[in-house]
Amino acid sequence: MDAQNMAEAVSMPRIGDKAPSFKAITTQGEINFPEQYSGSWVILFSHPADFTPVCTSEFITFASMADRFSEANCKLVGLSVDGLYSHIAWLRTIKEKIEYKGMKNIEIKFPLIEDITMRIAGKYGMIQPNESSTKAVRAVFVIDPEGIIRTIIYYPLSLGRNIDELYRIIIALQTSDAFSVSTPANWQPGDEAIIPAAGSSEEAGKRMEGKQDMTCYDWFFCTKKIDKEKLMDTILKK
Ligand code: BEZ
Repeated sequence: MDAQNMAEAVSMPRIGDKAPSFKAITTQGEINFPEQYSGSWVILFSHPADFTPVCTSEFITFASMADRFSEANCKLVGLSVDGLYSHIAWLRTIKEKIEYKGMKNIEIKFPLIEDITMRIAGKYGMIQPNESSTKAVRAVFVIDPEGIIRTIIYYPLSLGRNIDELYRIIIALQTSDAFSVSTPANWQPGDEAIIPAAGSSEEAGKRMEGKQDMTCYDWFFCTKKIDKEKLMDTILKK
């Protein structure tokens, strides 16, 4: 990789940025990203290579949860710097030969981008040269229906992602947007969510009187219940 390509390879979009646009060939045909996903949440994720064990476990697990992501209006898009025929062969192998933790005959229906030139991986900072200059790390970009990057996570090559956590992130972000709340550590649907800070001394005082329909640990840290059924109904109907 020359210096110019290396500089591009480490350019990194940030949370709050518009997701960089690209057109790409995938196992599901050509895509125009993120424009054609307008109105949906998207998890764009890279993996180091086809026909590798950690990646295989991740793809099987993602695909086995595809209906849950779809109900949450979230589309999955994978990427590696392998070519289209390698992708096709690997996905066929997964479906025809691999049984993993009781998951078998798994068809990967979401698009897997070919990116041999690293053009897209470069735009998204998926190549991290101190980890590998020839493979993408396990990057995850959560992009909202307006095409804005809302979460970024990077894992090294050796560490498989927690797909339940990625699903939790989608539900938590949608909860924040729909109910104007933040979500505390280890939050799960049904748990109390954090309401915005008191905007005045008077409001801070009222919160500490304990008469409002909320739990306050101190004036700056108050939570309220969001009924799990109502939450999931609101989110899954969007
Ligand atoms: C894997 O998916 O198993 C893997 C890929 C590249 C480097 C290390 C592990």
